[in-house]
Amino acid sequence: MILRERRFEKQMDPRAARFISSLEADLRIYKETVLVNMAHVLMLYRCRLLKRREAATLLSALRKLYRKDPRRLALRPELEDIHVLIEEEIIKAAGPDLGGKLHTAKSRNDQVVAAIRMRAKRDVLQAERAVLQLVFSLVNKAAEHLTTLMPGYTHLQVAEPTTFAHYLGAYAQAFLRDAIRLENTYHMLDSSPMGACALSGTSFPINRKMVADLLGFVRVDTNTMDAVGSRDWLIEPMSALAITMVDLSRLAEDFILMSSGEFGFLDLPEELSSTSSIMPQKKNQVVAELVRSKAALVIGNLTAALSLVRGVPQSYNLDFQDLTPLLWSSVDATEQSLVLMAELVRKVKPNEKRMRAAIDRGFAIATELANVLARKHGVPFRKAYQVVAYLTRKALESGKTIHQISLLDLKRAAEEVLQKPIPISQQEFNVAVDPLKTVQNRRVPGGPSPPSMRSQLAELRARAKKHERFIATAEKAQERTEQRLLNQVRRLT
Ligand code: ARG
Repeated sequence: MILRERRFEKQMDPRAARFISSLEADLRIYKETVLVNMAHVLMLYRCRLLKRREAATLLSALRKLYRKDPRRLALRPELEDIHVLIEEEIIKAAGPDLGGKLHTAKSRNDQVVAAIRMRAKRDVLQAERAVLQLVFSLVNKAAEHLTTLMPGYTHLQVAEPTTFAHYLGAYAQAFLRDAIRLENTYHMLDSSPMGACALSGTSFPINRKMVADLLGFVRVDTNTMDAVGSRDWLIEPMSALAITMVDLSRLAEDFILMSSGEFGFLDLPEELSSTSSIMPQKKNQVVAELVRSKAALVIGNLTAALSLVRGVPQSYNLDFQDLTPLLWSSVDATEQSLVLMAELVRKVKPNEKRMRAAIDRGFAIATELANVLARKHGVPFRKAYQVVAYLTRKALESGKTIHQISLLDLKRAAEEVLQKPIPISQQEFNVAVDPLKTVQNRRVPGGPSPPSMRSQLAELRARAKKHERFIATAEKAQERTEQRLLNQVRRLT
């Protein structure tokens, strides 16, 4: 055992060893940890802290590890973590005299941060791509439904008519912000801790910038204590993921509700539904239900992360080890949820009849009726509102739906409330009570009129594409950086 043997007489209690080991969880950062070791050895050589032959031997042993499936290494818990395992493997391969030089001027504390950030940079981009895919499915579906009427709700009570496109576009906007939030965390992760060592740097004449460049970090952490002693940069992507899941969970909840028999607004695909073992008629929205519950998991992970870090004294403490798997859990749950919700959106079919019926039943055109009185007949809006409020009450009392309200009803209500007649024409009245016309008249930027919707969707698409290009460029850069590092390693060995 490379760590304990000269310090302690006793082996660690095997229960404690298992308890403190992060080996299993570390598999997620295996490749990254090997790459960090490679960059570090290259730097040691270039700073004349290793001879060429020494560096070559260490690097060829690291190359072998790079190609290895880490699951085939013996994951003995007494090794504590992947960092010790890798060092031990190198010592086995290169002998204790040379292998023992690998850990010169580095610590597990800076190494683990470097590896987590490298992996998180990749994972955050993948999650962002999944968010953008959802944005595209929403935008594409919306484009098919520019004139599909839908009741808009506030307080879960029918409010005003809008379109299915407008509804989907609302979520697309929110998810675009989620993508941007995730992308911002990428920049926060883009800083190299290497050279911080345990916490106060090193007296070896190393080159921190060189390691950062080799690993594809744009910056070097300025303060070595902060480099190993902070985890806010890890909580931040978890927070962006939690916000994404909260938005996603609302969409899932909407889909569950709106596909119920009571609403009947949406038909969701069989491929993503399940049935019951006893009730043969059932079609359950289990994907959406589990997306909703994954949101709880991801929120829980964030809460756990915040709680975990809040009591940790400066700088590195092993508590941090328990933080990392929470990030991977959040990334994976969010990505899977996004992929499936995008599929649900792609395949959802709105039921226009049912949505139209709900618009009528809910007097959704009430606001527009008041608007017409105000716009065309000079009635102050509040007065016009009162006319329609009165009309609504009268209609409800007599059990009428909006279809059954006539121009005469409106005129009577106006006379009653305003104490004077309103010369509203049949034509004006017909336009006002037609929800499609109402929607077409909502030409305000961001509103549901088809031209307005078309430009919103075009803008959304353009912005989402821009972020997709960012991801592609960043991923290509990551790939190139890794190849360049591997090439430099190969050239030296
Ligand atoms: N396994 C640790 C982690 O994931 C690596 C750093 C351990 N450092 C230490 N001093 N024990 O955080």
